[in-house]
Amino acid sequence: MYKQFFRPLLFRFDPENVHHFSFSTIRFINAIPGVSSLIRSMYQVNDKRLEREVFGLKFKNPVGLAAGFDKDAKLFNELSNFGFGFIEIGTLTPKAQEGNPKKRLFRLLEDAAIINRMGFNNGGVDEAVIRLQRNKGVLIGGNIGKNKVTPNENAVEDYKICFEALYDYVDYFVVNVSSPNTPGLRELQDKEPLTNLLRTLQELNFKKYVGVEDMQGAVKPILLKIAPDLTNDQLLDIIEIVKDSKIAGVIATNTTISREGLQSANKIETGGLSGKPLTKRSTEVIRFLSEKSNKAFPIIGVGGIHTAEDALEKLEAGASLVQLYTGFIYEGPALVKAINKKILEKA
Ligand code: FNR
Repeated sequence: MYKQFFRPLLFRFDPENVHHFSFSTIRFINAIPGVSSLIRSMYQVNDKRLEREVFGLKFKNPVGLAAGFDKDAKLFNELSNFGFGFIEIGTLTPKAQEGNPKKRLFRLLEDAAIINRMGFNNGGVDEAVIRLQRNKGVLIGGNIGKNKVTPNENAVEDYKICFEALYDYVDYFVVNVSSPNTPGLRELQDKEPLTNLLRTLQELNFKKYVGVEDMQGAVKPILLKIAPDLTNDQLLDIIEIVKDSKIAGVIATNTTISREGLQSANKIETGGLSGKPLTKRSTEVIRFLSEKSNKAFPIIGVGGIHTAEDALEKLEAGASLVQLYTGFIYEGPALVKAINKKILEKA
């Protein structure tokens, strides 16, 4: 129904306006008595065999919503009705910021892709915290970044502020140093600044629990989200840094700056490319990290999942969990159910 009816209608309008319109609509219909349970009965697949325990957390299924969709933590309760096992909010920054000038979000229809240069538009971490207090039991990842005006030398401070503010309200953290839309951000993926950033956050994490006996169960898992454009040598560095800083794992991958093999005329837009053209590369990155690290840490696989088979490939390549963004826009909520069903078929 989504692909036949809603998508053709929604795709006639500006993508960012559609995003806001969809948010209001999803919120509105979920507020009608009985509708949220109807949506849950349509999309959720509840089965013990889908449950996963990863970095000490219990996921009811391994399919999550990727960062950027519910940046400000406005809709995670309603979105979880579509069957997601977890929702990642953010990227949040310490202070609210507008992001880049509009137009900054583009559909590449011929390529089943999106280019975005949103630039971490968000209402700031403190506002999100207020909304997170209304969580009705959704497993939440908190994706954190730095404000555009903060120079890279002071970036650690921004991440610390977000970390502290969100600590009691998220189940895991994601350190985002891989968005192509904040100038200089990806330089934080270099060995020295990245080691410093992750060690600092992990120290903060451990300090919270001085005196708590069950340290393993107490600290919040911290994951690093990486770009698909890193070279093999850089990926080998990432493996070392993850082990050295003792963080919980990696999210692979963010959007790409590559424009290889695209058909759409608007491929010339600046920004990060997501969707179908990213499927193969993000799976390659997952496989490389998993093999070269000897499965030393869990990986969340994201990038171009548009079919249940795409998700299975990522799980087979070494991902413990997967996330969707562009596939959710192109295929609709039925994709979440299709993936969970397919996993059950193989179980
Ligand atoms: C994103 N993504 C993203 N990632 C992130 O860590 N922080 C963010 O704020 C955003 N914002 C964002 C906005 C838009 C419009 C898109 C399309 C994507 C990246 C996203 O979480 C994911 O890593 C990539 O899009 C690849 O997955 P898909 O979209 O191919 O499934």
